Amino acid sequence: MKLQHKHILGIGDLSKEEICLILDTANNMKIVLESKNKRTPYLQGKSIITLFYENSTRTRLSFELAAKYMGASSANISASGSSVAKGESLIDTAKTINMMGADVIIIRHPMAGASHLIAKNVGASVINAGDGMNEHPTQALLDFMTIREEKGTFDDLRITLTGDIMHSRVAKSNILGLVKLGARVTVAGPLTLIPKDIEKMGVRVSYSIRDSVRDADVVMGLRIQTERQKNGLYPSIREYAKFFSVDDKVLKLAKPDVLLLHPGPVNRGVELSSSVIDGPSSFITKQVTNGVAVRMALLFLLTRRETNETAD
Ligand code: CP
Repeated sequence: MKLQHKHILGIGDLSKEEICLILDTANNMKIVLESKNKRTPYLQGKSIITLFYENSTRTRLSFELAAKYMGASSANISASGSSVAKGESLIDTAKTINMMGADVIIIRHPMAGASHLIAKNVGASVINAGDGMNEHPTQALLDFMTIREEKGTFDDLRITLTGDIMHSRVAKSNILGLVKLGARVTVAGPLTLIPKDIEKMGVRVSYSIRDSVRDADVVMGLRIQTERQKNGLYPSIREYAKFFSVDDKVLKLAKPDVLLLHPGPVNRGVELSSSVIDGPSSFITKQVTNGVAVRMALLFLLTRRETNETAD
């Protein structure tokens, strides 16, 4: 099986089979990642460009390492150090990168739909590394990989997403994928941080953190996105943490083998207490490693769409 899509713009576009293909390929890439010699020739002769208009540590670095581990030529452009700062439009910047021979362009942008716009204007494959409040598909894929590694299946898994659901592109991509994969998803947070009508996406809504995590198999804390919020959505960060932080007492209500996830960066003591972040249920550092494997898999699959080569 091959990827049906030239671009990875959102989890909503991917079939269940394509998601499984990406996760299976990422499993093979993880073997490379964990070996002493991480070099493979899979992307020899290919050019990978990361174009980041917003800050990032995990996503940007994992794409850059993924490209390097597979022998690609890679470069990064950020808004502040490029001609974007002189007023160049997004499309003109993308066309310029494309004309230098890029095979894959990876973009993070504060505007929802930015990666879709670029995909319409370049010959290269485009990967959405987060577009405003819309989607962050590669984060969701690494979350799925971590869940599948630990739980084996998504069927009827109880998965709770807590926090700023309203402004979270990670929440949207996770909900779209997890519901498709057969999980039972609950979202929890203050009324002001949960989108109206989100039940239509197939999730249960809870405004009580304790109720939402009871008997959960997976609990995923989501960052309070202060950079995207209007004022007045909750009285203060301290107040928010008092009612919605996941700490040891809250996590005890979940199943004994609960998996605690967070996409990062974490605000310690806000979404999650330090004790649970560093505790035995936390798989947050494993998510980071799986992020490199998933991004290696995506670069491999997108550059192999015309061939029958597999990563076995
Ligand atoms: N999870 C995530 O997107 O992290 P970065 O902002 O560090 O890339």
